[in-house]
Amino acid sequence: MKAVVCTKYGPPEVLQLKDIVKPSPKRNEVCIKIHASAVTASDLYIRGSRIPLRFMVPMRLALGITKPRKSVIGLVLAGEVESVGRDIQRFKAGDQVYGITGFGLGAYAQYKCMKETDSLHGCLSLMPTTISYEEATAAAYGGLLALQRIEEGQLQRGQHVVVYGASGTSGTMAVQIAKHYGAEVTGVCSTRNLEFVQSLGADKVIDYTIDDAAVQSIDRYDLMLDTAGQTKNSKVKERCRQSLSPTGKYVSIDDGKLLLQSRRLDTLRELIDAGHIKPVVDRTYPLDRIVEAHEFVEKGRKRGGVAISIEHSD
Ligand SMILES: NC(=O)c1ccc[n+]([C@@H]2O[C@H](COP(=O)([O-])OP(=O)(O)OC[C@H]3O[C@@H](n4cnc5c(N)ncnc54)[C@H](OP(=O)(O)O)[C@@H]3O)[C@@H](O)[C@H]2O)c1
Repeated sequence: MKAVVCTKYGPPEVLQLKDIVKPSPKRNEVCIKIHASAVTASDLYIRGSRIPLRFMVPMRLALGITKPRKSVIGLVLAGEVESVGRDIQRFKAGDQVYGITGFGLGAYAQYKCMKETDSLHGCLSLMPTTISYEEATAAAYGGLLALQRIEEGQLQRGQHVVVYGASGTSGTMAVQIAKHYGAEVTGVCSTRNLEFVQSLGADKVIDYTIDDAAVQSIDRYDLMLDTAGQTKNSKVKERCRQSLSPTGKYVSIDDGKLLLQSRRLDTLRELIDAGHIKPVVDRTYPLDRIVEAHEFVEKGRKRGGVAISIEHSD
């Protein structure tokens, strides 16, 4: 099968398309014919080993000290169950699924075998029926991150939420989920994304690139969801944080690790198929242009997610 291998940590060019042996499922695994993967912030961290200092030791131990232990990286997949091991109960051949591979990685390939149960090596669910495989990858990654943080923030109907970094993979999902849960939503993004974030349903938008004098009218917030992460800052971000009500909460996407829970993938599927939220894909690259895809994501300007489409000749 075709796969992208990464035999050392480094720039996008370390990724190489190769022919490798197709895996077979163990008795407790499904084999997924992958139709789409994604290039996420996490994939960049893994490939470049640019892991935040506080996670460096545990992550290197898990992923490989001097080079990736698993040469095929890739964290997100959407595809079709091709075959199942004899102990599999949740899925059958032909099911369309989406999920995250966790420390198992391996999504930059035509096939991936993984367990059906949640673990550090991934989580898997039936895919929404109303979106493409590419959109499903943005839903799995951005959706899981956003939903986890919204639940941790204990968002209540009628609350005023500010989503900082509203144009990214998790920000676009956070705006839509918070809106659907009955919040009044303010989205913060750069000038070029103001209309886009409004089109996702945000009641108000704030441009973080303008000087804080221009945002004197910032409201009182019950919850601030920082979906941009610790490295992306601005004066407006500080202003929003200072504008939390006395009982208001600040929840950052970087507060601890992403939980790989298929129950949240199930919730996302229901929200998507009911038409309440729609994952956003900025652009799609074929597997053989993975280097270009990583270079684009590294610029830090993507709107929603970036997908990788994976072709099969059969
Ligand atoms: N805890 C975990 O397990 C975990 C896992 C994965 C990711 N993360 C965190 O999640 C973060 C976001 O990931 P993502 O994939 O959703 O984001 P992303 O798509 O990589 O973010 C790109 C977006 O960030 C916006 N942006 C850039 N600089 C900004 C700034 N100074 N202020 C506000 N927005 C800014 C850009 O919009 P403009 O062009 O409009 O500026 C662009 O739309 C990562 O950087 C990482 O810190 C955490």
